[in-house]
Amino acid sequence: MRRRGASLMLLPLLALAGCGGIQTIGGREGREAALIDDLFTLFCIVTGLFFAAVMAFLFAAYWRRGGHRADRMPDEGATAPRDRGLRIALFAWTAAVIGGLMGLAVASFLTDRSLAYSTAAGRPVVSIELIGNQWWWEARYHFPDPSQNFRTANEIHLPTGSAAMITLKANDVIHSFWVPNLAGKQDLIPGRVTDIVLTPTKVGRYRAQCAEYCGLQHAHMALDVTVDTPADYARWLAAQTRPAAAPTTPQAIAGYRFFMTRQCSACHAVAGTPAGAGVGPDLTHLMSRRTIAAGTLPNGTGPLHAWIADPQGVKPGANMPYIGLDADELHNVVAYLETLK
Ligand code: CUA
Repeated sequence: MRRRGASLMLLPLLALAGCGGIQTIGGREGREAALIDDLFTLFCIVTGLFFAAVMAFLFAAYWRRGGHRADRMPDEGATAPRDRGLRIALFAWTAAVIGGLMGLAVASFLTDRSLAYSTAAGRPVVSIELIGNQWWWEARYHFPDPSQNFRTANEIHLPTGSAAMITLKANDVIHSFWVPNLAGKQDLIPGRVTDIVLTPTKVGRYRAQCAEYCGLQHAHMALDVTVDTPADYARWLAAQTRPAAAPTTPQAIAGYRFFMTRQCSACHAVAGTPAGAGVGPDLTHLMSRRTIAAGTLPNGTGPLHAWIADPQGVKPGANMPYIGLDADELHNVVAYLETLK
């Protein structure tokens, strides 16, 4: 019995062990997440106090009744002054409950206003159109000068201290964008445009997860979110805006030819080449990403071979088909992809 008590006491500790890291609801690395976290803390304190008060009254009633002897009826004539006290206590309690609930309602309203005001306070500096697909994310960076626009996939970079307006669209079914360290959730709905503002405050790497069940590979629909210093962010933008460099080694050139003349270019785009399709992720700077297939595999030579050789084995149901390359073609294509830095 004592052991069970000890393991019950460990439960909250285990739950708290999940708080921290690149994907946590307790994160405060964004202005919006901190606002929501403050509201959550207030809810916990207020509801915790009321819970403690209810428990205290319950135990007090139990002890005053003399434990389990509930059959002992009070003397009717002697209860009048106590009734008055009870009535006052009841009114005070009702007032406390109404006051507490109203306080929480006002706090929720003010937090909601603050979240909305982060749009109005300063014009968002960063503008990203994020499109949900089964099962990957397309990110389109927009600039006042459209020639600077570029696309990337399954990752976004944001600078600290600036508001980023993320416009959300869905290509097929409902998805949900959620970077718990930075902000709350926002759904992506086919045929509608939604948005969310992120104002990151701390440099770091975070993980966004699709938070609305969207089919077989819903769990493999992650987005790598990197928050950079403004200088690092500017460097990343400059690198992303550049078109892909031409391959130079014979193997990479052979891979390039295969890519442009066979199935690959029917779905993927590489800026600066004839490949311009938008069915699958843009691969212009593939090797600068940390993961492939929306967080399914780490990026690297081995995983790229595995993914291209048998996409359905890695991510069953994904739209990337089995191409059936022979060993040389596979090595060549990977050699070409590895030039896309
Ligand atoms: Cu997209 Cu779940």
